[in-house]
Amino acid sequence: MTNIDTIKKAGHGFSTLADSQIYDYETNFVASHYGRQKLVVRNAEGVWLHSQDGNKYLDCLAAYSAANQGHCHPKIVKALVDALQNNYASVISNVVYTDSMAAFAKKLAELVPQMGPRFGQNGNKILPKNGGVESVETAIKMMRYYGWKTKGIADGKQEIIVFSNNFHGRMITVVSFADTPRYKEGFGPLTPGFVTVDYGNLDAVEKAITPNTCGILVEPAQGEGGMFIPPEGFLKGLRELSDKNDLMLVFDEIQVGLGRTGKMFCFEHENVIPDGIVLGKALSGGLAPLSCFVTNKELMDMAFQPGSDGSTFGGFPLACVAGNAALDVIVEEKLAERSAEMGAILKKRIEEIAAKSSHVKEVRGRGLFIGIEVHSGDAMSFCRTLLGMGILANDSHGHTIRVSPPLVLENEHIDYIAERLEKVLVD
Ligand SMILES: Cc1ncc(COP(=O)(O)O)c(C=O)c1O
Repeated sequence: MTNIDTIKKAGHGFSTLADSQIYDYETNFVASHYGRQKLVVRNAEGVWLHSQDGNKYLDCLAAYSAANQGHCHPKIVKALVDALQNNYASVISNVVYTDSMAAFAKKLAELVPQMGPRFGQNGNKILPKNGGVESVETAIKMMRYYGWKTKGIADGKQEIIVFSNNFHGRMITVVSFADTPRYKEGFGPLTPGFVTVDYGNLDAVEKAITPNTCGILVEPAQGEGGMFIPPEGFLKGLRELSDKNDLMLVFDEIQVGLGRTGKMFCFEHENVIPDGIVLGKALSGGLAPLSCFVTNKELMDMAFQPGSDGSTFGGFPLACVAGNAALDVIVEEKLAERSAEMGAILKKRIEEIAAKSSHVKEVRGRGLFIGIEVHSGDAMSFCRTLLGMGILANDSHGHTIRVSPPLVLENEHIDYIAERLEKVLVD
């Protein structure tokens, strides 16, 4: 039996530990840094998660967009198995070259439209890391360096404009400008140099710009912040303000890029080209940690020289092999177009349910990035009921049920989700 056949056996997973032992071990030996729902997933395939008792759950969370290609996509699994069996998966010191990094870098740098065209049209470069937050920090370094080197801002005085409700990860610099108190309480001293303004408010952005401002860091749609799409013209306005004031505009597309909102990149909805973009999650199809900061070649070469950045595992062969196959799957299977098409159908079904429900305050989203805000502000109570019906969903910012399944969703899955949402939301 191949590995792929084994994982296809519903309920079969890594071990024979009973669910009760798993709850016990995780409670005793894993930090309680996530509020968990009571489900042990033994294996996952496509849109489905399987438990040991043979039950299946449609994954409406998709690991916050990391599983856009569907769980264990056979093409990505095959690429990884080949790499492992043929000895080109292991980490290699970054002081030499690998063909996996070269192939992946070319593919990604060419897939992303020319970043920051005002700085030159010679293409993009990538800087690979192991997870979203690391690449956000790379972007922050880039913006600060730009401010210092080209704008003459004193080193240590650079300011970056960020937004209310933002989410960019959990490490110290990034939580330093989080809006949510529990992300940072007790973890000081925090990193200075960030100015927060209201998401969607261009006047506030303009007022916040000072001679020390070097960049703007923004999510072109907010996932963790409550599944919000910014007002039309917001991204364009940020572009104009950045051009006028010589600022680097960076979009965090870790959650909303790579097809999630119905376009390959979320910024394509407004036809706005940033100076840099941060990608992660679906970049490796959910099968290896991989993230990247992508920017104009000239900017990357200006800011990063040997010694000014680095990461042992950042872009190591296994991750690049996964990344290479994961990008192919998104392009070949037209997952962005599929997200637009399936998302429109699913959103319409949800809006019909919402019209009959006294619980729903608002339905919003684009593509398969859909949020259902509930009046009670307690989205998790609905998610817990959904779990009992065979759907894994989670809240976004407490008040909103997140519906963001893998992009390989089929019509029958839409029926499955809609039937259950109707039971939960219509009294
Ligand atoms: C927009 C955004 N930025 C950054 C991150 C952090 O990514 P990671 O958890 O891989 O560090 C996330 C994770 O959810 C995200 O949604």
